[in-house]
Amino acid sequence: MSAIERLGGQRSVGGALHSVIVDRSPYVDAFGPFQGRIWLNAAHQGPLPRVAGEALADAAALKRRPHLIADSDFLDVPRRLREALGRLLSVPAAEIVVGNSATYGLQLFVSGLDWRAGDDVLVVAGDFPASITPWFALAQRFGVNVRVLEPRGPMLTGDEVIRVAGSRSRLLCASWINSFTGAVLDVESIGSACRELGVLFVLNATQGIGARSIEPASLPVDALTSSGFKWLCGPYGTGFAWIRSEVIDRLEPAHYWLALPDDGHLEDALTDFSRPRGNLAHRAFDVFGTASFLNVIPWTAAISYLDEIGTEAIAAHDDHLVQRLLDRLDPERFRIISPASRKARSTIAVFSHREPRRNSIIHASLTQAGIDTSLRAGSIRVSAHLYNSAEEIEELVEIAIAAGDGC
Ligand SMILES: Cc1ncc(COP(=O)(O)O)c(C=O)c1O
Repeated sequence: MSAIERLGGQRSVGGALHSVIVDRSPYVDAFGPFQGRIWLNAAHQGPLPRVAGEALADAAALKRRPHLIADSDFLDVPRRLREALGRLLSVPAAEIVVGNSATYGLQLFVSGLDWRAGDDVLVVAGDFPASITPWFALAQRFGVNVRVLEPRGPMLTGDEVIRVAGSRSRLLCASWINSFTGAVLDVESIGSACRELGVLFVLNATQGIGARSIEPASLPVDALTSSGFKWLCGPYGTGFAWIRSEVIDRLEPAHYWLALPDDGHLEDALTDFSRPRGNLAHRAFDVFGTASFLNVIPWTAAISYLDEIGTEAIAAHDDHLVQRLLDRLDPERFRIISPASRKARSTIAVFSHREPRRNSIIHASLTQAGIDTSLRAGSIRVSAHLYNSAEEIEELVEIAIAAGDGC
């Protein structure tokens, strides 16, 4: 049973009673209900905003009454999603590829580049598996070498890339923010190194987009990919990629019968199908079942909601919570694993008890007390977003101290 035990305004924690500090995020009413729990786990799943829940109900109503689905919806629904993502990233909507995961965007490079035996792909040791696993298919199929680079510090640097890349290095894939440590990649430095070497740079931005801003077109990045169900608060099974136009021309698409240009009509797909359609550019790479109403409609509403608040305001809110956590974690008891300085940190905060074996007890106590975090690589990962408040962080710290001290 995951529901917490509520005792008249007090929470039960390992037998001790702790008062609930009442305070609220200005955005909390736009989410939930959280059933009394404190969700500090956006790095795992971002909750659907209420407005997106309403959009989901609309999408379900469409499916219940299919006569209401217009032919034009098959193009308009993904178009609106691409426009929302384009606004978020300051890129043309046409350059957004609709996916269903972060992996989808990576897979376009796995299946679409003209790989040759002896080519190299560079990935980073300690990165999230999604940024590493897809490339191993190339080793088996084409004899491509997947080189797992071991960074000296918390994150790979541009200098390290320059030192280790070889003449057969074709592509480097790395995550912007490390899911396990919260460390942030220096995108500018890695991208510049890749440019210098003629290596494609594909950035997995899953753990940042929605929590902080990024404008990939003005960075030395060739493609950016992201899940949609974390900081972007979309349903599970959402994701997208932005791919620079000069780069998409180097990729071989699959041929999907319903891939149509922006100004196309469903009718075109039914009459002109015996040869690959020309001039589709990014539209040739959208995921099959592009309009996927039940996912795309609510996700678009979630992104539009985040966009109305503005990424700067979201980043400021989230960082305030990270700051509160870092301020309150007593260094005698806890070690901060994620970067602490404002400049270096992300919205993922990770800490460990000085006796790391206590972390699983702390995590279990938090869960029991109705506070959801993750235990990742043996440490406690806290990922606070819009709906969370500083007082919820206080409550987490109080419980972590009690559980760590063995109370
Ligand atoms: C950095 C990163 N990339 C990707 C994913 C998920 O990948 P996908 O959307 O392909 O399932 C996660 C978390 O699950 C992640 O932390």
